[in-house]
Amino acid sequence: MITFDAVTKAFPGGTVAVDNLSIELPTGQITVFVGPSGCGKTTSLRMINRLIEPTSGTISIDGEDVTKQDAAVLRRKIGYVIQHAGLFPHRTVQDNIATVPLLNGVNKKQARENAVELLGRVGLDASMATRYPAQLSGGQQQRVGVARALAADPPVMLMDEPFSAVDPIVRDGLQKEFLRLQAEVGKTIAFVTHDIDEAIKLGDTVAVFREGGHLAQVGTPQELLDDPADDFVADFVGRDRGFRGLSFVTAEGLEVEPVQTYVDGVRGVRLLLDDAGRPRGWTVNGSDDVRAITGTFTKQDSLRLVTDLAISSPAGVAVRVDGDGVADGAATHASIADHLADARRESAG
Ligand SMILES: Nc1ncnc2c1ncn2[C@@H]1O[C@H](COP(=O)(O)OP(=O)(O)O)[C@@H](O)[C@H]1O
Ligand SMILES: [Mg+2]
Repeated sequence: MITFDAVTKAFPGGTVAVDNLSIELPTGQITVFVGPSGCGKTTSLRMINRLIEPTSGTISIDGEDVTKQDAAVLRRKIGYVIQHAGLFPHRTVQDNIATVPLLNGVNKKQARENAVELLGRVGLDASMATRYPAQLSGGQQQRVGVARALAADPPVMLMDEPFSAVDPIVRDGLQKEFLRLQAEVGKTIAFVTHDIDEAIKLGDTVAVFREGGHLAQVGTPQELLDDPADDFVADFVGRDRGFRGLSFVTAEGLEVEPVQTYVDGVRGVRLLLDDAGRPRGWTVNGSDDVRAITGTFTKQDSLRLVTDLAISSPAGVAVRVDGDGVADGAATHASIADHLADARRESAG
């Protein structure tokens, strides 16, 4: 566990970047620091690995005050990922990843072998190992940044806007991989973002910061959406927080209509399936144009995805598929609304 106890940071010149912060970051979980620019997120993060020293208060990891530890030794136990990955441009991918293991005395051959294995874990091909950072896309560089931070298998990871500089589709992929990886490795992670959607997607716990380095609220994503502490948090989590809240309800138990109804056609719209029964697209009013299907859902997906698919589909339904990708039902707006009402009733107890 990482503990901030009454931590304040005032920079020379008088800016109070972090004001009397007390918060606990549970072991093995992702805690997200979110808030508008300049509210002290990065400063808070960098005090954990002592790139910045607090003016007062203490930060401890598993009960040990970080300022009492040798900074270089401390940093080898803490992975650090930043925006634009911060890779060394003149080192190959494998040597970037091997940086800290080499410092820790692992031999070069072993460190490179481990680096190649790590590439696989972050979803990159082993052939990338001998490339230089400039020969990778932004998203690939970020993955290498994550692999490098993981290389020494540190118990703690600090991530400062690691996915902010890539386009939304790549970001979505990185976020999913990151959650999958965290489910395997279970690191204690402090993750900074200015994006409330990212915070809600990734955080086990979300800490909302406001200007002046004040902590406005800490809670689970659901708690922040359901019960914002004040107007600032309510405004920050956004007007469409009801819609965001759909992320926490899954499509398990959602009533669907027989998919055949839509294959036969409703209001001039027909669902096309391939020979195996997988959805291919929609045709409208008998036209030869096939409109690509924008997505399908499974029982494990969120009601947010289902709602989005239903709204954007020409038939006004979201198509459900089984584990083989075969269409096995269609969810209408009415069934989504009913399912949501049921979920609300259940959670109200
Ligand atoms: N080295 C520094 N010297 C003086 N002021 C700084 C320094 N670093 C950050 N600040 C100020 O501290 C405040 C918080 O900055 P920061 O922690 O980077 O915010 P965030 O990461 O939330 O955008 C800002 O007002 C910023 O200008
Ligand atoms: Mg910052």
